[in-house]
Amino acid sequence: MSERSQQPHQPGRSDEPWEEVDRYVTDLLAPDDEALSAALAAGEEAGLPPIGVAGNQGKLLYLLTRMVGARSVLEIGTLAGYSTIWLARALPEGGRLISLEYAPAHAEVARANLARAGLDTVAEVRTGPALDTLPLLAAEPGAGPFDLFFIDADKVNNPRYVEWALKLSRPGSVIVVDNVIRRGAVLNKHGDPSVRGTREMFDLVSREPRLEATAVQTVGSKGYDGFLLARVRS
Ligand code: SAH
Ligand code: DHB
Ligand code: MG
Repeated sequence: MSERSQQPHQPGRSDEPWEEVDRYVTDLLAPDDEALSAALAAGEEAGLPPIGVAGNQGKLLYLLTRMVGARSVLEIGTLAGYSTIWLARALPEGGRLISLEYAPAHAEVARANLARAGLDTVAEVRTGPALDTLPLLAAEPGAGPFDLFFIDADKVNNPRYVEWALKLSRPGSVIVVDNVIRRGAVLNKHGDPSVRGTREMFDLVSREPRLEATAVQTVGSKGYDGFLLARVRS
C-alpha cells in the first residue's frame, strides 16, 4: 500500500491524488464492463483521442438520465460512443438516443461499439456537422422534445448547441454541457475560440429566462475541468 493512501492528501503537492481517487471511486461504483472496455479499446485502436468522459462521469450521465426519467436523449459529439453507451443504458424500454458526430470515422467506430453493447436499436449516430444535422433532425415529424441533452462537441459552437437544445426541449428537460472550465481557461475573456464559445454559452444561459443552471468544477483522471447543468423551467 502506498504511503499516500494512508495519509490525508496535502494540498499543493505536485502528485495530486486525483487519478488514484478516480480509480478508487470508479472501481467501486462505475467499473467498465466488457462493452465499455471494448469501446475504449476500439477508439484507441482507431487512433481516436482519449477525450471521452471518465467512467465515473459516464455514471453521472447515466444517473442524471435515470433521475429525470428520460426516455429520449440527444447527444452532440459522439467520438467512440463511450458516453453514448452510458446514456443509452439509462433509457427505459422503448427509449431513444440520437448522437450527432462530425467525423465519419468516429461515427463508424461508435456504431460498432454500440452494436457490441447491444444498443444499436436504442442509439443512432448521425454523421455531419451538428449545425447541419440539427435543423434536419428538428424538421423530422416527431423529432423531440428530448428529455436530456449532452453537449460535448466543438466548444466554439456551444452557444448554438444550447439554443438548439432549448428548441428541442420541453419544460423539465435537462442540458449538460461538458468541458466548460478547461483548467480555468474559462476565465480568459480573450481566450481561444473554444473558450470564447464557452463564455458566450455561459452568458446566454445566464440571460435565458427559460433556464435555471449551475456549473461545477471537476478534477480526476481527465484533469481539471467541469460541466454545466441546466434545467428548462416548467
Ligand atoms: N461524448 C464523447 C466525447 C466526444 S469528443 C464521450 O464522452 O465519450 C468530441 C466529438 O465531437 C469528437 O468526436 C468530434 O469529432 C465531434 N465534433 C467536433 N465538431 C463537431 C461538429 N461540428 N458536429 C458534431 N460533432 C463534432
Ligand atoms: C476535448 C474535448 C472533450 O469533449 C473533452 O471531454 C476533453 C477534451 C478536446 O477537444 O481537447
Ligand atoms: Mg467532453
